[in-house]
Amino acid sequence: MLLRDHFPTCLVLLTRRDSVVALSMAFLTPTTTTAEQNLPARPPFIRWGIIGLGDVTRQKSGPPFWKCEGSELVAVMRRTPGKAQEFAKQVPGGRCVGYENLEAFLQHPGLDAVYVATRPGTHLEICKAVAAAGKKVYVEKPVGRCAVETASILKAVGADKLYTAYISRAYPRTEAVRQLLKEGAIGDRITSVSYVLHGKGGARDMDGPMPWRLDPAQSGGGLIMDVGCHVLDRIDYLCGPIKFLRAEAKRMEPGTGVEDYVRFEGVLQQANWTPLLPSRNAYVSCEWDFASVQNLDELIIRGSSGSLRMIAMSAVAPVYVLDKADKVNRVVDNFEVPEHTAQAMIQAVTDDLRGTRRSAFLSKGENALRTSMLLDRALEGYYGNRDDRFWEVFDSQARR
Ligand SMILES: NC(=O)c1ccc[n+]([C@@H]2O[C@H](COP(=O)([O-])OP(=O)(O)OC[C@H]3O[C@@H](n4cnc5c(N)ncnc54)[C@H](OP(=O)(O)O)[C@@H]3O)[C@@H](O)[C@H]2O)c1
Repeated sequence: MLLRDHFPTCLVLLTRRDSVVALSMAFLTPTTTTAEQNLPARPPFIRWGIIGLGDVTRQKSGPPFWKCEGSELVAVMRRTPGKAQEFAKQVPGGRCVGYENLEAFLQHPGLDAVYVATRPGTHLEICKAVAAAGKKVYVEKPVGRCAVETASILKAVGADKLYTAYISRAYPRTEAVRQLLKEGAIGDRITSVSYVLHGKGGARDMDGPMPWRLDPAQSGGGLIMDVGCHVLDRIDYLCGPIKFLRAEAKRMEPGTGVEDYVRFEGVLQQANWTPLLPSRNAYVSCEWDFASVQNLDELIIRGSSGSLRMIAMSAVAPVYVLDKADKVNRVVDNFEVPEHTAQAMIQAVTDDLRGTRRSAFLSKGENALRTSMLLDRALEGYYGNRDDRFWEVFDSQARR
């Protein structure tokens, strides 16, 4: 990485000291050869900041901000004293600054875009502040606690400036499934989609009397908000948007007061981004049984001449291609385990911001809103309504 790529940052650092103004000016007017002058302008580096430095940022999504091409992590923020500075110290280059205060963080010189990696209950307030400061936003899923909140985030940030972290869209494995659909491995039409999850679907931090993922004020509901949103988005991306038909949400085990079982039915709609169009009335059924002690996670996409079967909540598990008689005739595997599962998506967002590459799999506010709306429909029977601030009137004590 050339220091020249960081001119704006260098200017701020150097001109803080009167004695080195001359040096900075000399540095800003480098001698260029005719060959260099004829080169196309170098795409800018994106100077990223992160708000929220917890579990997801530690390994999945933090390091890509300094490892991706064209990206630099210049500022990080969380409230606990000393913790942001501690995080900033591990960022190579020694230029990342840690903040404990949102206003100060947003004033960091040259900040272009911000990754919001806090819990969903804080997304709206933080995204509004980041957007008001004129920065682009890449926000974690689920974007809002309900569709009204997701729509408010989309409105505050703007469709062109909002990116959302449905990272599985960017996995090579997801692209492999798209290729199989495109090449007709299951026929020329999708006829149905079914998904079943038994168990917690790999949800983390589930210890203690009230994990945050089961507190509607922080997460928007039970585990379907955290885990189920990924699958609904993946079906949307691979097979098309889902029109809601009916759902049932209930509580199987006593304890936290939120739902732990959801059954959902819908129909696939036609969409221009899917590799294979669905048949008329292609049925979608999903079942999440978070109370089950079994471990089952299976997504089946059925077509006119066969089916694809796979674990949904994985970046690397094999994808099985079955014929009409349900016999496995191909296995697509050997997917590399990514060091940081969010890196491919963060590279794509960075490329999009730099204007160097536009990936078809980018996740934006519109698809996040479709998923939020489906989650609302799936859960409205349990919560009574899913309007703005429904968590304030929902009596979780009474449901225990
Ligand atoms: N895309 C994926 O595959 C994936 C995977 C896991 C999680 N996630 C999502 O990532 C988000 C974060 O989850 P997590 O598990 O990392 O949560 P977490 O471990 O609880 O971390 C949250 C972080 O946010 C900070 N924070 C909280 N409130 C804040 C505020 N008002 N201003 C600034 N910082 C604040 C916390 O630090 P302080 O308390 O010190 O401020 C902490 O560093 C959630 O939306 C989750 O669903 C996504």
